Amino acid sequence: MKNRPVRVAVAGIGGYGDQYVAALLEKGHEHSAILSAVVDPDPSLSPRLQAIKERKTPVFEDMAGALRDSPPDIFVLATPIHHHEPMTVACLEKGVSVLCEKPLCATIQEALRMLEAQQHRPGRFVSVGYQWSFSPTILSLREDISAGLMGRPLELRTVVLWPRKRSYYSRNSWAGALRLADGRWVLDSPAHNATAHYLHNMFFVLRAAWNNSSAPAEVSAFLARANPITNYDTAAMRIRTADGTTILFYSTHAVRDSVGPMFLYRFEQADVLMDSSTGGHIVARWHDGRTKDYGDPNSDQMEKLWRAVLGVRDNAPQPCAITDAVPQVLTINGAHDSMQEIAVFSQKQTQIDKYADGDQLVWVEGLAEAMLGCWQHSAMPGETDNFDWPARVGTPVRLTDYRWFPGGKQPQQA
Ligand SMILES: NC(=O)c1ccc[n+]([C@@H]2O[C@H](COP(=O)([O-])OP(=O)(O)OC[C@H]3O[C@@H](n4cnc5c(N)ncnc54)[C@H](O)[C@@H]3O)[C@@H](O)[C@H]2O)c1
Repeated sequence: MKNRPVRVAVAGIGGYGDQYVAALLEKGHEHSAILSAVVDPDPSLSPRLQAIKERKTPVFEDMAGALRDSPPDIFVLATPIHHHEPMTVACLEKGVSVLCEKPLCATIQEALRMLEAQQHRPGRFVSVGYQWSFSPTILSLREDISAGLMGRPLELRTVVLWPRKRSYYSRNSWAGALRLADGRWVLDSPAHNATAHYLHNMFFVLRAAWNNSSAPAEVSAFLARANPITNYDTAAMRIRTADGTTILFYSTHAVRDSVGPMFLYRFEQADVLMDSSTGGHIVARWHDGRTKDYGDPNSDQMEKLWRAVLGVRDNAPQPCAITDAVPQVLTINGAHDSMQEIAVFSQKQTQIDKYADGDQLVWVEGLAEAMLGCWQHSAMPGETDNFDWPARVGTPVRLTDYRWFPGGKQPQQA
């Protein structure tokens, strides 16, 4: 292995997967890695298809072809959410390690199947592509928290308001979808896709994993939509961990201006923050006046790829494994159970901006201010504000022993 390049295949090259293709084509040689194959049912979506073909890199329409004759060392899965579990299992069965894009998968039962498949392949890894979890900034913050330098965690809260236009929702058949026509769950939403990083990060820095004391034990959620989609585009979640930390997450695509991510993680002895005052850096401020700048968590987006390459070549540990990514999936599943009927913002509240290129942005008047107010006061919608929320917050859902979405328990077979 030390004498040949690590062979990396990429599934899903038309969207975010293009960044992996670009990194491998442009920088693969610096890391002794090559793009060995690509998979996409519609490879013409890739802006780099010509370059791929010029290098005679095989292009497959499905994963089975790429796993059949000369399987790669690593498969990068930059495919839709509902493909993550079956593709991960197929790779592991062939002895191929996986770098799976976030979120891990749609449901907790899928996560359990992924975990089981991995347990049958102890020499292979599954790494989950939350890029912050590979950054020196987040990893050193996590070390300091684990070493007790901040004291006990009290409350972690994050807000991220990122507008998304109609073209975002129409770019594929699953954006904003609750489930597919065949019934499979997708659960695509801001909290389970574009801003999932920042929900995951609160669990990641606390080292929450499968059923440990920092894992989510209960969630209450408010879920609503303004866009014509089947899932939600606006969420507020209050989570309690088994060891008593409160985690709050506010995220929406139905706003006009981009804000955040901004967060405040409160510990007994220090506050850790990222907001307009920290210039994109994460900064800790101890109550005794000391401060520490941990840096910019966005500095190297492809560290996850090079880390996976090192995982194959030198058995380097992977910082974000399946168990690290499970708390986010559990929270998303429980949030749906908490608010089973997604609220709809009224037409009176909803605005539509129309652009010259035909695109549109649906946004809700006053929502950005209301979400920021909730974040500032650690409150759920309706607790401290006068905004006209279209429904009340859902009921709390227990997540300890939650093994099946929906409901927590697998229904008895008839
Ligand atoms: N880490 C990040 O910052 C980041 C950013 C964006 C997206 N993502 C993740 O990447 C994944 C893909 O999202 P996207 O926005 O690029 O989606 P997309 O729909 O824009 O692109 C998905 C690509 O996968 C292809 N595809 C569909 N079915 C396939 C199959 N069976 N086999 C192989 N390819 C298939 C599609 O043809 C398309 O080219 C999601 O999990 C998403 O959350 C991560």
